[in-house]
Amino acid sequence: MPYKRITLTHFLLEEQRRLGGTGAFTSLMHDIITACKMVSHEVNRGALVGNHGIAGTVNVQGEDQKPLDVLANDIFLHMNALGGNYAAMASEELEDVHSVKGSADGKYLLLFDPLDGSSNIDVNISVGSIFSILKLPEGADPTSADAFLQPGVKQVCAGYALYGSSTMLVLTTGKGVNGFTLDRDVGMFFLTHPDMTIPADTKEFAINASRARFWEPPVKRYVDECLAGKEGPREKDFNMRWIASMVAEVHRILVRGGVFMYPADAENTKKGGKLRLMYEANPMSFIVEQAGGAATTGRQRLMEVQPTNLHQRVPVILGSRNEVERLEAYHREAG
Ligand code: AHG
Ligand code: MN
Ligand code: MN
Repeated sequence: MPYKRITLTHFLLEEQRRLGGTGAFTSLMHDIITACKMVSHEVNRGALVGNHGIAGTVNVQGEDQKPLDVLANDIFLHMNALGGNYAAMASEELEDVHSVKGSADGKYLLLFDPLDGSSNIDVNISVGSIFSILKLPEGADPTSADAFLQPGVKQVCAGYALYGSSTMLVLTTGKGVNGFTLDRDVGMFFLTHPDMTIPADTKEFAINASRARFWEPPVKRYVDECLAGKEGPREKDFNMRWIASMVAEVHRILVRGGVFMYPADAENTKKGGKLRLMYEANPMSFIVEQAGGAATTGRQRLMEVQPTNLHQRVPVILGSRNEVERLEAYHREAG
């Protein structure tokens, strides 16, 4: 019965009651939810309101910004400052920490990728937003990036919004993963995907194969074995996907399993990888682990990497546990 579904607001209130919280967490989640609904609306209006093309500006990563990168960033900064819960924020689109004025009591730090997969906007393919929430360490200066440089295991909440054929919000507070679908007419997210779990085994992998010439031996070995199918050492046929929106890839893995790789390779290794640790890899790793999957650099559990820079990049391998462990074993064997 669809009308018997519970809203994300009620889900959060229930969590708050269970944990005996003060309401601060529910309030800050509410601001993120509003921001995601607003970004969803803008993504949906697309070219009608000039949200396609390029903005003509370049971000800290040296990437051309799209109008929606800029707009989504502004929406996140504005909406999440209102509740006074955050001491500071950090974004893919901002070089430095964004201090929240007038929130001297803010106890949390927010990191976000306001629009992930933005090369897909103009071609109307799924994009998303990713967020990660940390506690402001006792006595730390929230205006300094140092306060943010905590390993992923310290996250208190992580989530993403997927602006796909429907808009969804998926989140974890360290007690499993739940998915909510936006009902646009009602203006609310409803719980549609309780207790999302990733099957330990899979026959599907995702990697940008145009980079095959740069791959390290363990990744090449893994992909070659998948491609060899029934006749190869894996004795089964594999399927491959590459959307170029990490949010969409992780969502597919949460729904039906799979493994996603943006590994270190000969071309990106001097930068540390492609994906950003603090607002892409860490939140997605938290979600994937909470759903029973695993996330690694190939050589180390991702959430244990000690960050040294707000925008640092990292190799990412995540998804179905047995495949991720196999990839880790291949890395160990390669030395
Ligand atoms: P963003 O749009 O936030 O810069 O992130 C894009 C990321 C990620 O979502 C995706 O998996 C990857 O970059 C795609 O990279 P390629 O274009 O190299 O395939
Ligand atoms: Mn991204
Ligand atoms: Mn982005």
